[in-house]
Amino acid sequence: MVPAVRLLYLSGFLFSFATAVQLHLTAATRKSHSPEAILDNVDDLLYFVDVSLGGNNFSVLVDTGSSDLWVAGNVPGTKNLSVLESLGYAIGNPITGYINTARLDFDGFSVEDQVYLLVSVEDAQKTSFPQGVIGLGPSASSFIRGSLGNSNSADPPLDRIFQQNTTTPSYMTLLLSRNPSTEAISYQSSGQLTIGETIPKLEAVLDAPKLPVLVDQPIHQHWATLLDSNGIIGPDGQIISTTTTIPNPSEGSSEQLHVMFDSGFTVPQVPGYIIDAIYGRIPGASFIEDGTKLNTSLSYSNFWRLPCDYEVNVSFIFSGQEYPVAPLDLNRDMNLQDGDGENICMAFYQTGIASSASTLSSVGALDMILGMAFLRNTYALFNFGDFVDGTTSSVGNPYIQLLSLSNKHQIHLDFVNARLGGKDSTGTQAPLLPSPQSHPDGEPASGSNDGTSGGGSVTGDPSNDNSSSPSRPSVFAAWMSILGVLIFGVC
Ligand SMILES: *[C@@H]1O[C@H](CO)[C@@H](O)[C@H](O)[C@H]1NC(C)=O
Ligand SMILES: *[C@@H]1O[C@H](CO)[C@@H](O)[C@H](O)[C@H]1NC(C)=O
Ligand SMILES: *[C@@H]1O[C@H](CO)[C@@H](O)[C@H](O)[C@H]1NC(C)=O
Ligand SMILES: *[C@@H]1O[C@H](CO)[C@@H](O)[C@H](O)[C@H]1NC(C)=O
Ligand SMILES: *[C@@H]1O[C@H](CO)[C@@H](O)[C@H](O)[C@H]1NC(C)=O
Ligand SMILES: *[C@@H]1O[C@H](CO)[C@@H](O)[C@H](O)[C@H]1NC(C)=O
Repeated sequence: MVPAVRLLYLSGFLFSFATAVQLHLTAATRKSHSPEAILDNVDDLLYFVDVSLGGNNFSVLVDTGSSDLWVAGNVPGTKNLSVLESLGYAIGNPITGYINTARLDFDGFSVEDQVYLLVSVEDAQKTSFPQGVIGLGPSASSFIRGSLGNSNSADPPLDRIFQQNTTTPSYMTLLLSRNPSTEAISYQSSGQLTIGETIPKLEAVLDAPKLPVLVDQPIHQHWATLLDSNGIIGPDGQIISTTTTIPNPSEGSSEQLHVMFDSGFTVPQVPGYIIDAIYGRIPGASFIEDGTKLNTSLSYSNFWRLPCDYEVNVSFIFSGQEYPVAPLDLNRDMNLQDGDGENICMAFYQTGIASSASTLSSVGALDMILGMAFLRNTYALFNFGDFVDGTTSSVGNPYIQLLSLSNKHQIHLDFVNARLGGKDSTGTQAPLLPSPQSHPDGEPASGSNDGTSGGGSVTGDPSNDNSSSPSRPSVFAAWMSILGVLIFGVC
């Protein structure tokens, strides 16, 4: 059997355990009969949900980019299957443990003998998600299921729920909140995850265009779809020409980018030429190769620094629908000062992982990963369709529906209030430059960051550049140190 590299994206910020726990806030009350799970939002960086295993609760990262459940801690009545599984990280320690089964209670559903990885508390505390991760991706990408011979009984939680509760429609929805601890905005809501039903007042998501899920090789199956041709509206209101980097794409035209939606990926990953088209023409923007030269806590490399008061408008277009992104999601205040005492704001759409991923057939074919800073602008529905393992008859193709939540006027006012003290001077902000500024080294923006190493092991890891991987993350580093988590193993 040919060893295949299995790889999924997940993301996180380098976060100290203590910080993560302190910030674990938004103690939203939940009605006992409530079918939706409230999400805990950690500074708009990470979103957690409670699951119960063997009767004990765990606050786990909500991750549509992976397909396995792991927890760390005591699980009463757990059964050790004595099968070792390892989920390796690009930075830091791999998540390793024995596959176990226990009773799962999640979102009002109960599943007996749910498979999961039981990880030591010590290992888990080295990550940004000390109690675990729930992968909500397609079961074909589950490593645990792969290790257990792809049997139905080894399916991840959502598949088990859909198999068992057959009258429950096989979809989940995700609403990511905005956290008032970051920058005050007008509209606050609780982040929520629902299974088989929509959040009241947001039922319109069911009428949104059905975006077909791109079908990749089974082991790389993601929640991915096609962006419309040239489907990005830049800050000047004009479309940005897009070209996929995937050779001979089996779906879509060459102008259509292959986009993955990942609730576990804080900073959207976008090809370099698009990053330059969005940010490179902003007067006063500068391309920073080494963030630590601005502030030692800014352990990040190759990004555009932006004037904090510069409003950037960008929209993405899927199936003819425009999805505006809040200017506060595009130009992020890092809460750090440079040597002159100036606040540092950073382009929050970046490049690195996605641009290299698309050239790596073993990763699956992707151009962009739209993470939380995009998803916060939408209410998203993921319909599993035939992805549900073990369905005997064909139930239909999986699809994604996105309802825009970002009213252009409102997201503009939020920016004005947060950054301009409520006085709308955006009409007189300096006009965009005619063409993108060049970088100090004359290279295209954050060009290829291809971290491929030989022999079938794969990284898509911006941390290969040592300057972007702080050895001892601080709370500030948490704001900017993205890491791609690689999960790989041998079939
Ligand atoms: C787990 O959470 C549920 C719902 O919040 C609560 O009712 C239950 O008491 C918790 N269980 C434990 C063991 O903490
Ligand atoms: C699970 O089983 C393996 C192999 O039998 C064993 O080495 C490991 O210690 C067990 N784990 C726990 C937590 O008991
Ligand atoms: C799921 O199905 C089980 C039996 O198959 C049932 O007991 C349970 O009430 C159902 N749960 C929900 C939330 O529908
Ligand atoms: C970095 O930012 C922090 C937080 O604003 C600030 O306290 C510190 O003085 C800054 N460091 C430098 C070298 O400017
Ligand atoms: C951004 O979009 C808003 C809403 O359409 C608009 O009022 C504002 O002028 C735009 N800002 C810039 C800099 O184009
Ligand atoms: C990165 O760090 C490793 C270990 O500290 C070192 O061996 C390597 O030379 C560094 N690479 C670069 C490009 O600095």
